[in-house]
Amino acid sequence: AQVNITHDNSRVSAVLPSGESIEVLLHGATVTSWKDRAGNERLWLSDAAKLDGSKAVRGGIPLVFPVFGTAPDHEPTSKLPQHGFARNSRWDFLGKSTTESSGQTDASVKLDFGLSKATITDEAKKLWPFSFSLIYSVTLTPDALRTGIVITNDGDQPFEFQTLLHTYFRIGDINKVSVSGLEDAAYIDKVDGAKEKQQAGDVSIAGEVDRVYHPANPSTPVVISEGGESKFSIVRETLGDVVVWNPWTEKAQGMGDFEPKDGYKNMICVEAGSVKGFTKLEAGDAYSGEQVITV
Ligand code: BG6
Repeated sequence: AQVNITHDNSRVSAVLPSGESIEVLLHGATVTSWKDRAGNERLWLSDAAKLDGSKAVRGGIPLVFPVFGTAPDHEPTSKLPQHGFARNSRWDFLGKSTTESSGQTDASVKLDFGLSKATITDEAKKLWPFSFSLIYSVTLTPDALRTGIVITNDGDQPFEFQTLLHTYFRIGDINKVSVSGLEDAAYIDKVDGAKEKQQAGDVSIAGEVDRVYHPANPSTPVVISEGGESKFSIVRETLGDVVVWNPWTEKAQGMGDFEPKDGYKNMICVEAGSVKGFTKLEAGDAYSGEQVITV
């Protein structure tokens, strides 16, 4: 058995010999599906998500670049739409590489996607005129999904960016979920006037949550548990911040592409990124960051 990779004009899919699979849309290089060997979905994707390129995908793993949210006070990114243009651009599929073990039970696959100044729309170029290239690599192994970004400044002037891997995890019941690894971390509470607070214990969700955490120890895994059982463990490289988001009832109501409306019970966004302030990238320099999600 070999890794089975198929791709057409709009998406790339890969299935491991052991049965796990992923799907990546070229629109946004958005990972829209990650299934276990029994075919159970691990990511949450809205039933009303637009997958035709008309809108950023509601669910999966949209990629935020070069601005998180909007930044009216940060002149170079002030004109960009919410979360930047990367999630709304059509990426190129650059290629695949596979590793196969002797017994072929732990084969893995890496899919690479690219976006650059040369490939974004003229409209996006007008809003953000810098010379850049992004390589996004999505690696599937039987027990993990790794997504990593390399951002290169190809121009002759520095630029500043934020980036975030906006992962929507599928869970059974938000009321039973807790997130560990953020205890004592400072955070900005976006639903309470952007006040700075400090996390006490695990994070549990009983209403709208929208927080930007800055854990003191970036190498502590962030673990999503349900009913006390660990479901996902997220380990980050470079990406120093973690956003935790659940829209709850009213915000879900207000999002046209969020279906079913009570779908907020079955998802939690835990987003690895670099979003506190901006990172400056000098001409010719590159930045890389990734998350490894283990089940
Ligand atoms: C989160 C933000 O990362 O993304 C939230 O912290 C935002 O404030 C959410 O509501 C969803 O954003 P969007 O643009 O996909 O609706």
